[in-house]
Amino acid sequence: MAGRAWRPVLAGAWLLLLLLLLPSASAVRRSDFPASFLFGTATSSYQIEGAYLEGNKSLSNWDVFTHQPGRIKDRSTGDIADDHYHRFEDDVELMHSLGTNAYRFSISWARILPRGRFGRVNLAGIAFYDELIDSLLHKGIEPFVTLTHYDIPQELEDRYGSWLSDEIQRDFGYFADVCFAAFGDRVKYWATFNEPNVAVRKGYMLGTYPPARCSPPYGSCARGDSGAEPYLATHNVVLSHATAVEIYKRKYQSEQKGLIGIVMSTTWFKPMTDAPVDRLATERALAFDVPWFLDPIVYGDYPPEMRQILGSRLPAFSPDERRKLGYKLDFIGVNHYTTLYARDCMFSPGCPLGQETQHALAAVTGERNGLPVGPPTAMPTFYVVPEGIEKIVTYIMKRYNNLPMFITENGYAQGGDGYAHVEDWLDDQGRIEYLDGYLTKLAKVISQIVPRDGADVRGYFVWSLIDNFEWLYGYTLRFGLHYVDYQTQERKPKSSALWYQRFLQSLLEAQ
Ligand SMILES: *[C@@H]1O[C@H](CO)[C@@H](O)[C@H](O)[C@H]1NC(C)=O
Repeated sequence: MAGRAWRPVLAGAWLLLLLLLLPSASAVRRSDFPASFLFGTATSSYQIEGAYLEGNKSLSNWDVFTHQPGRIKDRSTGDIADDHYHRFEDDVELMHSLGTNAYRFSISWARILPRGRFGRVNLAGIAFYDELIDSLLHKGIEPFVTLTHYDIPQELEDRYGSWLSDEIQRDFGYFADVCFAAFGDRVKYWATFNEPNVAVRKGYMLGTYPPARCSPPYGSCARGDSGAEPYLATHNVVLSHATAVEIYKRKYQSEQKGLIGIVMSTTWFKPMTDAPVDRLATERALAFDVPWFLDPIVYGDYPPEMRQILGSRLPAFSPDERRKLGYKLDFIGVNHYTTLYARDCMFSPGCPLGQETQHALAAVTGERNGLPVGPPTAMPTFYVVPEGIEKIVTYIMKRYNNLPMFITENGYAQGGDGYAHVEDWLDDQGRIEYLDGYLTKLAKVISQIVPRDGADVRGYFVWSLIDNFEWLYGYTLRFGLHYVDYQTQERKPKSSALWYQRFLQSLLEAQ
């Protein structure tokens, strides 16, 4: 017991020594942000938990998908991933040593309700998240919980086609209710969905994520209709979100006193040229991304920019559905990584076929005249453009009347050639520059100098705490502040972990 108790102290001393040796590169300071600001790290269930058949969990859509040949770049799966299911206490200790005061994670729906609303609540699943939440709170770390981060029980796909059926609204509402009842006494931040705009586009337009449905020119899938299903799936996501929000507001919020929101993937788009048609295309690319979901959630209907082009291909909300959408959203979660150029496809020839922005009559690319919009990263389409976070936060602030925001993900991918040794992964100066750049611009848009009259952003989460299963890229890309040796499951802090720790503790500022 004594040895175990000393371990964090020794680890802390070791980290302190290492960070004193680091060059002082940081421009941004913890004190540039409000004292109450949440600073954390983020993960998701399928990407880290592993234990895919333990504790009476059922198969999720991602379990089934990754086991199909040819889906994942390195033929890997999340069967074991970071084995976080068995190592969560160590991972909470990593967060504690960073000095973070919040942690964003997601709940595996198939762990809590293996058969959706058609079976029982799985007590082993409840027990796992109970222990995780308790160990976070014990270390003074605020749990920030996403109800579903892409993974759903496969049974809901097999029974009725998941997001293509309005039955999913009842299932999602039931799942949310079970989670609020079980964990809401301790969880004060709830996000209904993670990046549903990505899940819908990749699941029903491009067909590259489960349920892998699409049609030409977007892709060639066994089934699907890229011109219709994305709008139907979005409709059911929006109404599932609204169902959960209504349940939280009516049954839980006055007693539990938490907040409920939704997390969107955001990209900042810049016009390829100064031509008015490219500027309009850029506005369309933006409106077809986040407002596609947030306009109905905040204002009760799809964006006018989308109606204008898609007309009746967009579903209509019935009076009863509109009433359901009347419950107030407490915050917007902003996942932001990159900026891209957009150009017109309404009047201009030569656009590529099958891009996600095609229905917006826009084409997007990371390059202009052969030059990238910012330094590239290991993730294709992710470039380092720090002012993008300032622009997208301002856009969302204006469009949604300064609703509170959290930056729920921001981070940097390593991968490709040039990583022969563990030390190459640990020495992640590129990630430090990325985080420093984006945090500097975030501080600026929050404060707009004195007094704080900028955007109402209340927290920031680095993606990710540890290297993990990066969807179609498997384990070939690494986003972690901590390196993971997948043979031994050992975690090692990268230079960026020490940088984040120093930023949070502002140790060198005191000198
Ligand atoms: C799994 O379910 C079975 C059948 O309901 C039950 O007997 C068993 O205790 C459960 N296991 C766990 C780990 O909860």
